[in-house]
Amino acid sequence: MLGSMVAVGLSYLLGSVSFAVLVSRLMGLADPRSYGSGNPGATNVLRSGSRTAAILTLLGDGAKGWLAVFLVKTFAARYGFGEGTIALSALAVFAGHLFPVFHRFAGGKGVATAAGVLIALDPWLGLATLLTWLLIAYFFRYSSLAALVSAVFAPLWQMFLHGVGPIALAVIVMSVLLVWRHRSNIANLMAGKESRIGSKARPRA
Ligand code: G3P
Repeated sequence: MLGSMVAVGLSYLLGSVSFAVLVSRLMGLADPRSYGSGNPGATNVLRSGSRTAAILTLLGDGAKGWLAVFLVKTFAARYGFGEGTIALSALAVFAGHLFPVFHRFAGGKGVATAAGVLIALDPWLGLATLLTWLLIAYFFRYSSLAALVSAVFAPLWQMFLHGVGPIALAVIVMSVLLVWRHRSNIANLMAGKESRIGSKARPRA
C-alpha cells in the first residue's frame, strides 16, 4: 500500500515537470505560456519557430509518461504492484502534466504525455493510437483534431486488446481529461479558426 502510494506520488511529480517550459528556458526562447495558444506543449512551442525545441518538448513530455509507467511495471513484482497501481500511476503522471505542482497547477493538454503512457502500457496500444493521430494529422493538418480523435480511439484500442479493467478505466479518464483540456481547440475548430500544424498564426486562446 505504502509502495503504491509512493509510486503514484512520484509519477505525479514526474508529470509535473513541464518540458515546454524547461526546454524553452534552456534554449533562451520565450515562455510558451506567453504566445500562441498559451499552452505549454510541443504544438505551441513549434509556433516559436524552433522545430528543435518542439521536438525536444515532445520527446521530454512523452518520455516522462513512458518512464513513470515503465518503472512501476518494472518494479511490480518486487513491490507487489497490481494493475490498479499501474493504472493510478499512469493517471498520476498524466495529471501531473495537466495540473503541475511546479507551475501553480496550470499545465498542458497532455497529448505527448498520454502517448508515452500508452506506449509503456502496451506498445501495440501506443502504436494503434499513434497511427490514429498520424492519419488525422496527415489528412486534416490539425494537431488538436488528431489528439481529439485519438482520445476517442485510445480506450477502444485498449478494450479491444485487453478488455475492460483498471487500465481501460484509466485510459478513459485520461481521454475525458484530454478532451476537456481541448475545449478552446474544439471551439476554434467549429468556428474554423483553429491553426494548422506549424502555423504561427493562432491568437491566444
Ligand atoms: O497538444 C495540444 C494540441 O493538441 C493543441 O495545442 O497549442 O494548438 O492548443 P494548441
